[in-house]
Amino acid sequence: MAKLKTSYFCQNCGAQSAKWIGRCPACGEWNTYVEEVLQREDVTTAGSWKSSSSLQVAAKPRPIAEISYLEESRIQTVDQELNRVLGGGIVPGSMVLIGGEPGIGKSTLMLQIALSLKNNRVLYISGEESDQQIKMRAERLSAKHPNCFILTETGTQNIFKQIEQLQPDVLIVDSIQTLHSSFIESGAGSISQVRECTAELLKYAKESGTPVFLIGHITKEGNLAGPKILEHMVDTVLQFEGDRHMTYRILRTTKNRFGSTSELGIYEMQGTGLREVSNPSEILLSQREENFSGITIGATLEGNRPLLIEVQSLVSPATYGTPQRSSTGFDAKRLNMLLAVLEKRGGFKLGTQDVFLNIAGGLKIEDPAIDLAVCASILSSFEDIAVPNTTAFAAEVGLSGEIRAVNRVDQRIAESEKLGFTEIYISKFNVRGLDLKRYGIKVHAVSKLDEVISGLFG
Ligand code: TYD
Ligand code: MG
Repeated sequence: MAKLKTSYFCQNCGAQSAKWIGRCPACGEWNTYVEEVLQREDVTTAGSWKSSSSLQVAAKPRPIAEISYLEESRIQTVDQELNRVLGGGIVPGSMVLIGGEPGIGKSTLMLQIALSLKNNRVLYISGEESDQQIKMRAERLSAKHPNCFILTETGTQNIFKQIEQLQPDVLIVDSIQTLHSSFIESGAGSISQVRECTAELLKYAKESGTPVFLIGHITKEGNLAGPKILEHMVDTVLQFEGDRHMTYRILRTTKNRFGSTSELGIYEMQGTGLREVSNPSEILLSQREENFSGITIGATLEGNRPLLIEVQSLVSPATYGTPQRSSTGFDAKRLNMLLAVLEKRGGFKLGTQDVFLNIAGGLKIEDPAIDLAVCASILSSFEDIAVPNTTAFAAEVGLSGEIRAVNRVDQRIAESEKLGFTEIYISKFNVRGLDLKRYGIKVHAVSKLDEVISGLFG
């Protein structure tokens, strides 16, 4: 019997090695190497995707000016959140990977999109659920689509046979970890299988110009399972996240060859599927009539979209030796830095206080423009004086307590005004070129933390 050809693969990052090693030299993880049978069958490419035109023209270099492309050829879905996250619609021939924890709603989202593409022939391949289960879900979403086809199959050979017959305009695969190519002998979901199946689908996408959506699972650590390699192969990586127990879901771009990577789509999971949330600030701000101490509103940007988010903090005397510092949705190191600034530059004795900070709505904010909102929130709780719930903040705080300028401040001011805020604090260095009279909101342009403190707490 011929010897099987095997190799070792890191299950974390996909690195390959001829022999077993304890620690992966590529990602540094321990004990992640697993032996997998490689052996490609010798039937060359029979059964894998073959481009339909038998006239294979060898590629030649062309001047870039002569290459034409059509921006309009993107497929617009009815889902505006998805369009934006993809950078303006579905690009023909693109491969999009959607990752997320089990039960977060990946299948629901993709089925909903499949059902909404009424002018296109859609093929939804499922290796996870039966026809009936998918039909049941479609009933729940109560959308009818005569041209949406379901195929429950995991072998890529048969999948390509069906694709050739059906000639779909859009292909959805749920999920890539269930697919199996007969060219590789290891089991479905292993690194080499995932890599091979993705490569076959990628070839199909590029040669036929059909956009392909892959659903991918996420490991306990929050990485796309197996597949760091997958992230390199596909054009766009979308992350579907949120708390399974809360109704809001966030679709985030982490890689995009056709658009910005900082885009964000927000959905609400309802009994009848996912609903787009087109005005996220409304849900991120808690409905409150009274003013509470410790709550402020920061005007941040996610991608191109301004978002008003609620910063909550609780400052109370520490009962045990070392005070606790805890932050959710905001960088803990940055929180410590801001606390040091408030202590040293503002003279507030926060060293003996427990400080808890929370960004409402489960968002993670990296934008430094919410620094001032964080500082104001902490001081408001410390002094137990409420900040009016009609005041917003958009500025970075520096180490010497200076208020620094942030990008696209005009958009932040405009969004605050739109949502009914009456005052906003920004940096003095941001006002150049701004026509403050244009806004119906009072703009406080400040340069020092002291000015904000005296303005808010007298
Ligand atoms: P699902 O889309 O199957 O998630 P994934 O493919 O990411 O594993 O998850 C759906 C979850 O959402 C499931 O717990 C039920 C819930 N759900 C609703 O609340 N409303 C709906 O209309 C649908 C279809 C699902
Ligand atoms: Mg699913």
